[in-house]
Amino acid sequence: MGTPYHLSFVAFFGRTFDEYMQMFSITPTELRKGRTLDCPSGPDSFIAEGLRQGLDVVGCDPMYQFDASEIHARGKASIDATFEELKKNPDSLHHKNLEEFTRNKYLALEAFAADYALNKKHGRYVHASLPKLPFADGSFDRVLTANFLMLYACVADGGLYDGREFDLDFHLRSVDELARVSKHEIRMSPTRAASTPWGEHPYLQAIMERLRLKQFTVELVPSVYDDGFGTNNHLLVARRSIALY
Ligand SMILES: C[S@@+](CC[C@H](N)C(=O)[O-])C[C@H]1O[C@@H](n2cnc3c(N)ncnc32)[C@H](O)[C@@H]1O
Repeated sequence: MGTPYHLSFVAFFGRTFDEYMQMFSITPTELRKGRTLDCPSGPDSFIAEGLRQGLDVVGCDPMYQFDASEIHARGKASIDATFEELKKNPDSLHHKNLEEFTRNKYLALEAFAADYALNKKHGRYVHASLPKLPFADGSFDRVLTANFLMLYACVADGGLYDGREFDLDFHLRSVDELARVSKHEIRMSPTRAASTPWGEHPYLQAIMERLRLKQFTVELVPSVYDDGFGTNNHLLVARRSIALY
């Protein structure tokens, strides 16, 4: 195995709706109950396809400060740059089907960009950054959070990011914020380190403890989603044990 895969930027890189269903072990039927926040949403097609299916979904991301044409150009450049980095370290990721994984990123971007142009003005895409979100307490029934927390910790702390700003303190403040806006549930992926030593992410236990302190019960559910970092990824599912209201 060569140098672990690492990035000098946070990739503006998104999954498709179907990948989201696998990654979060959730179904459109379950999502039909209540309001869902996708944070960060990136250029994924979860919001676009969710709205098409009549779901009440909102995405937020720092990149949503940009208009539709700029965000499409930035999304394309970010996906290209991420795959260029991947080519430098072909041994680091182990997708069962890398071609399909790659194709899905561009498909997600196209669906996202078309919907962003239509639905940003309807409040479906909100410019926001962790650890402070512009939503009232308990605004959402559930929060989905993927491929930012834990993944963009620095390489020395089990992430794939060269920067150091997303340290444990940042993560715990972000968890507090996701808990504040979620009425019932938080689902978080990945929970496994993206750099050596492989295995459970070094921040995972502290994150779970923080969620328990916030009155959530926490469980780790095996995930079938192939994120390229091998087996044994688990989805963190946190449910509020005491109702907010
Ligand atoms: C790899 S994408 C994940 C997108 C999507 N959740 C998915 O799994 O396909 C990571 C996202 O984190 C966003 N990001 C960067 N800094 C952030 C911050 N401080 N708070 C929230 N999101 C941030 C980036 O703009 C980017 O869209």
